[in-house]
Amino acid sequence: MERLVIQGGARLKGALRVQGAKNSVLPLLAASVLLEEGCVLHNCPRLSDVDAAVEILEYLGCRVTREGHSIRVDPGGLTRNHISREKMQTMRSTILFLGPLLARTGSCSVYEPGGCRLGARPVDLHLMGLEALGAEITREEDRLCCRGRLRGGRVVLPFPSVGATENLILAALGAAGTTTIYNAAREPEIGDLIAFCRAAGARIYGAGTSMLEIEGSALRAAEHRVVPDRMEAATFLTAAAGTGGELLLTDARPEHLTAVLQVLEAAGCRVERGDGEIFLAAPRRLRAVPPIHTAPYPGFPTDAQAPMMAALLRADGVTVFDETVFSDRYRHVPGLRRLGAEIGTAGALAAVTGVTRLRGADMEATDLRGGAAMAVAALQAEGESRIAGVHHMMRGYENFAQRLRSLGCAVTLEADGA
Ligand code: EPZ
Repeated sequence: MERLVIQGGARLKGALRVQGAKNSVLPLLAASVLLEEGCVLHNCPRLSDVDAAVEILEYLGCRVTREGHSIRVDPGGLTRNHISREKMQTMRSTILFLGPLLARTGSCSVYEPGGCRLGARPVDLHLMGLEALGAEITREEDRLCCRGRLRGGRVVLPFPSVGATENLILAALGAAGTTTIYNAAREPEIGDLIAFCRAAGARIYGAGTSMLEIEGSALRAAEHRVVPDRMEAATFLTAAAGTGGELLLTDARPEHLTAVLQVLEAAGCRVERGDGEIFLAAPRRLRAVPPIHTAPYPGFPTDAQAPMMAALLRADGVTVFDETVFSDRYRHVPGLRRLGAEIGTAGALAAVTGVTRLRGADMEATDLRGGAAMAVAALQAEGESRIAGVHHMMRGYENFAQRLRSLGCAVTLEADGA
């Protein structure tokens, strides 16, 4: 177990190349079991969640080789069609193996997935969609047994769930006939998954819209570069904004961050959008912004809510947050309050009243983005802060401490008990 030790007060300054997207590489690895001749993925971040997905692929019988940030998967030797409870609970996106595994083998058993605790995270939409494609699913406590030859169908999602959309795209590729998904999620990571599947020969129409049409088709081979991680980009941008810093992000996609960049501009930052680049220069003190409502893409992303809140702790005025996607995503608030932040919460709402100073304190991360938010806040605090629960951050940020150091921040990783 490790802790992040942060000496606050420095302005973040410099340039950073954005890592590949965690939330893209995970569905891509699940998709790889459908490719007859395998795939090579480039720009894969080195994260514990990616390690967990690779372990599952190897357990299923796929051959996986890694070199730097590239991962080659050869699913030719896939022999198993079940995943243990322990493996399923390593993260939420283990559930993304369900659709492709069922499509490939005709029957499989998995367990309810784990993942960040952000409130109830059922998988009912995934299962409802698979059933609409002909899957027979029985549940014994947390075990899900699925079988059936999939056939194309119509699925109307009551909410544009990212994971359910991904699972259904992959299941539909292995189904006979055409599937239409209505109210599909439109996150850029879904566009990346579709691009990957198309490179392997899939026929999928409607990318970027909420209606997707997928023809069942055999997938061959693909070589693909994972899209840049808009949440890593958002996190470093909020760190720069909160510390009055200056940051140039390269290998970034400003068009995927429109809602986040608009808020940063409203807070007083100068933002320049280039081709694959974002430059941000922050004023000494940010100002509060109009209410931020989290929403499915292209709305303000729930994953950026905690880091943005951290950036605005010292802003002039009051900012209200309305978290509409997850029912319990203010778990970072008690940690931020320890630094002296003034935050009131009531259900889905949180109100941040900007203070003039934050003081270093001990905190414990309880989820990935909440932990990142604590770091963004600690960078602005006077004195030293220690953040426990670093393993949560390792799920989504490659070399977090080192990358912050490269931008002039005093951040180290310390073993617990040191
Ligand atoms: C993805 O999770 C991301 N994870 C999350 O990122 C992100 O917060 C979320 O999308 C929303 O953008 C990955 O891509 C691996 P959802 P996912 O299904 O797919 C409810 C991070 O920090 N719902 O769109 O699990 C659900 O409870 C992580 O990187 C159902 O009710 O999100 C939630 O309230 C955390 N039934 C809402 O929909 C279902 O069957 C959104 O969930 C599925 C979802």
